[in-house]
Amino acid sequence: MDAVNHQFRLAARPVGLPQSSDWSYTEEPVGEPGEGEVLVKNLYVGLEPAMRGWMNEGRSYIPPVGIGEVMRAFAVGEVIASKDADVPVGSHVGGLLGVQEYAVANGKGVFPVDPSLAPLPVYLGTLGMPGVTAYFGLLDIGRPQEGETVVVSGAAGAVGGLVGQIAKIKGCRVVGIAGGPEKCGHLLEDLGFDATIDYKAGNLDAVLSEHCPNGIDVYFDNVGGEILDAALAHLARKARVVICGAISQYNNTTPMRGPSNYLSLLVNNASMTGFTMGDYIARYGEAVQEMAGWLAAGKLVSREDIAEGLENFPATLLRLFAGENTGKLVLRI
Ligand SMILES: NC(=O)c1ccc[n+]([C@@H]2O[C@H](COP(=O)([O-])OP(=O)(O)OC[C@H]3O[C@@H](n4cnc5c(N)ncnc54)[C@H](OP(=O)(O)O)[C@@H]3O)[C@@H](O)[C@H]2O)c1
Repeated sequence: MDAVNHQFRLAARPVGLPQSSDWSYTEEPVGEPGEGEVLVKNLYVGLEPAMRGWMNEGRSYIPPVGIGEVMRAFAVGEVIASKDADVPVGSHVGGLLGVQEYAVANGKGVFPVDPSLAPLPVYLGTLGMPGVTAYFGLLDIGRPQEGETVVVSGAAGAVGGLVGQIAKIKGCRVVGIAGGPEKCGHLLEDLGFDATIDYKAGNLDAVLSEHCPNGIDVYFDNVGGEILDAALAHLARKARVVICGAISQYNNTTPMRGPSNYLSLLVNNASMTGFTMGDYIARYGEAVQEMAGWLAAGKLVSREDIAEGLENFPATLLRLFAGENTGKLVLRI
């Protein structure tokens, strides 16, 4: 094959927000699949806040991306050559295929996706990693009960928007925390949240008291920092705090801010539990199946925010940290 594969590789470990000099835009001939492998033409790449963590040196739940390596990313695309009989040419697959136009992957390491059931970007959001994260983080760790109050931060994002909607399906009262009136309007009007808090308007503590008069039963945290601290001060007895992420801290050049209100856990006999989606990989299909049913039944709204062009990857990634996305941020290639 004569085609060229354009790629973004990690050139340097960022300090603070990633700069353009932290990336190199490279090209190489498109690879040939070996026995058991497939060649995928990537069509959409998912942009994740976690990418910022993957760029750092040090121990985490997954090894860092090495300097000079193609940036790790979930992507979906079309199989254009195959040496795995189970993954035919013309089928569509998803997986960790990287920030690049073409990927050679192990046929057993990709999963089938069906564009006739849902548009391909949905498999990077609601029916993909963020959906599975929202599903198990809320249901398995948050364990919401009907009538309880669930508060979610980062509520207008990929994970947060789904957490709130699943909590509504389970009969909870849902309060979403997001930045700005437009996002708050989206949560109320499109996603069916009961109440919203624009954290950029200030006064978080007073508004939490107003919207959660009996305290928070489940707090699903995507952002960390001051918002986590404020939520901790409003826990109900036996509350469950789910630590999913801490995007407010990912670009810190000073030490990460920890919660100072943690004794609220003691006072309220509450718990705070962290998790990663990887803990649930064996149950991925279970979540996707139920979410697909809710989508088909119109109980769940899937929102994607689609940007254009692989060459725009570095600038598009920064939109996550500036709060410029609503729903799942995806790059169309
Ligand atoms: N544990 C896991 O396995 C797992 C899996 C996937 C994602 N996550 C985590 O879940 C969180 C959400 O991920 P996502 O993919 O759904 O991203 P997302 O919410 O779609 O996008 C990020 C959003 O974070 C908000 N944000 C950015 N900087 C902020 C700050 N300083 N303070 C408060 N909010 C800020 C912005 O919304 P506003 O405009 O509202 O500020 C932005 O739109 C991230 O922390 C991510 O790392 C964890």
